[in-house]
Amino acid sequence: MNEATHDAYTQRRRQAEIEAARLLRRQEIEYKTTLWPVPERYRDARLDDWQVAGREMAIAKHAIEHMAGNPRPVVDECAQAILCGRTGTGKTMLASVLVNEINARAAETGVIAGYVTAREIIDRVRGQWNGGDERVVYDALLVPDLLVIDELGERAGTDNALEIISRVVDDRYQRNLPTIAVSNHSIQRLNDLVGERVVSRLRHHAAVIEMNWDDWRTK
Ligand SMILES: Nc1ncnc2c1ncn2[C@@H]1O[C@H](COP(=O)(O)OP(=O)(O)O)[C@@H](O)[C@H]1O
Ligand SMILES: [Mg+2]
Repeated sequence: MNEATHDAYTQRRRQAEIEAARLLRRQEIEYKTTLWPVPERYRDARLDDWQVAGREMAIAKHAIEHMAGNPRPVVDECAQAILCGRTGTGKTMLASVLVNEINARAAETGVIAGYVTAREIIDRVRGQWNGGDERVVYDALLVPDLLVIDELGERAGTDNALEIISRVVDDRYQRNLPTIAVSNHSIQRLNDLVGERVVSRLRHHAAVIEMNWDDWRTK
């Protein structure tokens, strides 16, 4: 092989390696962003879709906009939040907006978000009990840099539910991975339902976003 041919060959190989790395990265992002998807009805919901009527709603939206604009996937850098308020106030939609906004820029920022309900966590773990391996579920819940857990406090009283949720919150906390909790209950009530230990981890460096306006659906 003469020198010119050799250079061209090296050049082509380098190019192929770069292409392969790019493809792998795209696939990794695709896999991670689809692992824990937002509810179907909010699949395309973005910040502009969440309408504001009044000051409190503006504050809530601003907090989410800020989190979406500076995704810092570490608990210690104020990346956690608790959204609570009565049903129909747009909590699930706003949390989905956060996930969608973060994932829309995942290729740029490297930060990936996921969404799951407490009920789904519990059902998935229990689904592994007959001969499966529950660690598969716990590990999958560590994949998103930022994880929204919606409907926290639902089903809390049932068998092992508390241990399951507590393990997920704790595993993520120990790894400094932020969790965003969403609940129809107040923080005081959550203390009773899921325990102070869980709530204190979720509250660490967290913004508490109270959403106590009227049900949007009855407007
Ligand atoms: N600020 C908002 N802008 C637009 N739609 C909203 C807003 N808040 C709530 N909605 C709509 O109201 C309904 C209830 O919202 P949802 O997020 O499910 O409430 P929650 O989770 O608090 O019970 C949904 O149809 C949602 O799209
Ligand atoms: Mg909801």
